[in-house]
Amino acid sequence: MGINNRKKKEVFGIMFCPHCKGDFVYERMNGLSSGILRCSCYEYPILDDVIFLIKREDILHTVNLIKQGKIFDAWTLQVEVGFSYTHRIINRIKKYNWNFGSSLMMWLVIFLKRNRARKLRSLLPKGNLKNIFDFLSTKKWGSYVMKREKSASFIIGKTILKENMPNITKNKTIAEKFIVFDHMSGPGIYAKYIQEEIPNATVIAADQSFLNALLGKYFFSNKVVYVCFDANDAIPIKNNMLDLFINSDGFHYLKNKKNQEYCKNEIQRIMMSNSKIIFLHLHVKSGKNKGEGIARSKEEYKSLFNDFYPTIIDEQSEINKKYKHIESEGCSLSLIGEKIGENFTS
Ligand SMILES: C[S@@+](CC[C@H](N)C(=O)[O-])C[C@H]1O[C@@H](n2cnc3c(N)ncnc32)[C@H](O)[C@@H]1O
Ligand SMILES: [Zn+2]
Repeated sequence: MGINNRKKKEVFGIMFCPHCKGDFVYERMNGLSSGILRCSCYEYPILDDVIFLIKREDILHTVNLIKQGKIFDAWTLQVEVGFSYTHRIINRIKKYNWNFGSSLMMWLVIFLKRNRARKLRSLLPKGNLKNIFDFLSTKKWGSYVMKREKSASFIIGKTILKENMPNITKNKTIAEKFIVFDHMSGPGIYAKYIQEEIPNATVIAADQSFLNALLGKYFFSNKVVYVCFDANDAIPIKNNMLDLFINSDGFHYLKNKKNQEYCKNEIQRIMMSNSKIIFLHLHVKSGKNKGEGIARSKEEYKSLFNDFYPTIIDEQSEINKKYKHIESEGCSLSLIGEKIGENFTS
């Protein structure tokens, strides 16, 4: 059971293309919750209800396979691209300009891997993607999903969210539409939690990785809408749409400080007036995690998110106060803010 048509329509209405900012036209394909989203600049695939909003050579191939009705091949291709990313194959190919040789090499890799998938398919009940995915996935992924919910960082993140939940939902009645965006969601552990807390919410979890989306869909929640996107691009949501924006342990992965500033403006653009923004596990320059990625100091975060009147919480001292038995994973901050003032007009 996937996302129903009403929810799909609603989500496509909230979103736009991160590249041309145009509206989408949706074409549903037969089987396995697949389709194509068209805007004025591109055709994006939907596979297994996961919406891809990334422009890439393999995405074009995927769209072509979907158009030919080869949904399973399209799905396998994207799973393999996901794994190839982990194995740096595509990146190696990308170093060359995209020419006949590199394209041949990619097809060779995909062909070899598809053969493996075909063999798996012959062993499995037809169309049982979950089993195929279980087969293809590694122990590492499985144990990540198993452990994530019990990790210290999730427990502290969940506590902060829970404490703020009455404040987050205070302007809404239970029947009203409530839209949540879990930015750089991984498999979407927070998306899952929020979906359970606010069952009628439309929760969108967006990450660069299709594998994360599949993990989330199969192991966390099949009510959450998963999107594959690049957080360095525009956020694919129309103006003033969100009731809650959340990012956990992701902001430092943006390419540079300029992209972080751009992202902050994007967040402001997509949030509704009086809606809440929550960052969990913001990496601190001087923290025990050695400021992994593009980290900032507490003061820098405060000034970057100044427009949201942020409250900043030192997660380490929260852990010490509430969970003496939990061993901390490093020093990071939570930031809670609100979009005060008028809605954005372009
Ligand atoms: C440490 S994980 C956090 C995942 C999740 N929010 C959580 O707390 O469990 C960081 C995530 O950022 C994603 N990510 C990194 N760079 C990205 C980018 N440019 N666009 C979208 N997602 C990205 C990764 O794929 C990864 O899932
Ligand atoms: Zn477009």
